[in-house]
Amino acid sequence: MPGAPTIREALDAAQQATDRIEARVLLREVLNQSDAYLLAHGEDTLTAEQAQQYVALVVRRVAGEPVAYLTGRREFFGREFVVNPAVLIPRPETELLVELALQRVPAGAPAHVLDLGAGSGCIGITIAAERPQARVTLVDASEAALEIARANAAQWAPGNTRLLHSDWFSAVAAEQYDLIVANPPYVAEEDMHLQQGDLRFEPRTALAAGADGLNDLRRIIAQAPRHLRAGGGLLLEHGYDQAAACAQLLAAAGFKDVFNARDLAGVPRVSGGHLRG
Ligand SMILES: C[S@@+](CC[C@H](N)C(=O)[O-])C[C@H]1O[C@@H](n2cnc3c(N)ncnc32)[C@H](O)[C@@H]1O
Repeated sequence: MPGAPTIREALDAAQQATDRIEARVLLREVLNQSDAYLLAHGEDTLTAEQAQQYVALVVRRVAGEPVAYLTGRREFFGREFVVNPAVLIPRPETELLVELALQRVPAGAPAHVLDLGAGSGCIGITIAAERPQARVTLVDASEAALEIARANAAQWAPGNTRLLHSDWFSAVAAEQYDLIVANPPYVAEEDMHLQQGDLRFEPRTALAAGADGLNDLRRIIAQAPRHLRAGGGLLLEHGYDQAAACAQLLAAAGFKDVFNARDLAGVPRVSGGHLRG
């Protein structure tokens, strides 16, 4: 029986089965080492345990498990967030929602912000970390997701975040905010993408929202005005084909200056508006 492989042999073998970069990411994870280390130590031999761990990770990746769930981490807006299968994996396109929120939350001035559907907490925690004067409340209907968000909040913004178990606004019924942000579930129940790629492994409750994917957006937009101060704003991430529906819902709920912003891929991604000041 052959001995344990060298780093180079292990990478070569893994690259037959999976993407080259992912093969390195997973080996870095097993060895707790950098890319530079892998390059410089190609002829070092793995221990039998490391080789076994690596094979197990590669097999899971080949079966489709997202890399972020295998490593337990994903970078968002320059910070590393802990993730597990209880939370959606933070997406690069969601950074647009954070950028738009930061434009509306002045640095150095107090503001109350609500993040609906916190998941890993990547949106609300990033706003809190970038705007230490703001107080950010994050809510989620999933206790398992809140556990992860709490760990991330403790890491990045322990002083100005609050996490609550809530069905959208239920736990903050009496409160009003300067800005409400949300990346709610917005995929149609029958959308075939739910059966493809990473989405197969992510929580269904984080993704699907009724026959047209708009169930949660409708609820949030209809209830938001009661929870905003005069002049307060609402920012929502949504699907590529939901901008027109969101614009209608926002106008019907009384929002002014309704707009849509496109992500870096040119896809209509965030809609919003504000109440009369
Ligand atoms: C698309 S994920 C967004 C997670 C995170 N904000 C992000 O951008 O990566 C939607 C989140 O909404 C939560 N959610 C779904 N229904 C909810 C409800 N009725 N009330 C509160 N949160 C809900 C899910 O548990 C999930 O964490």
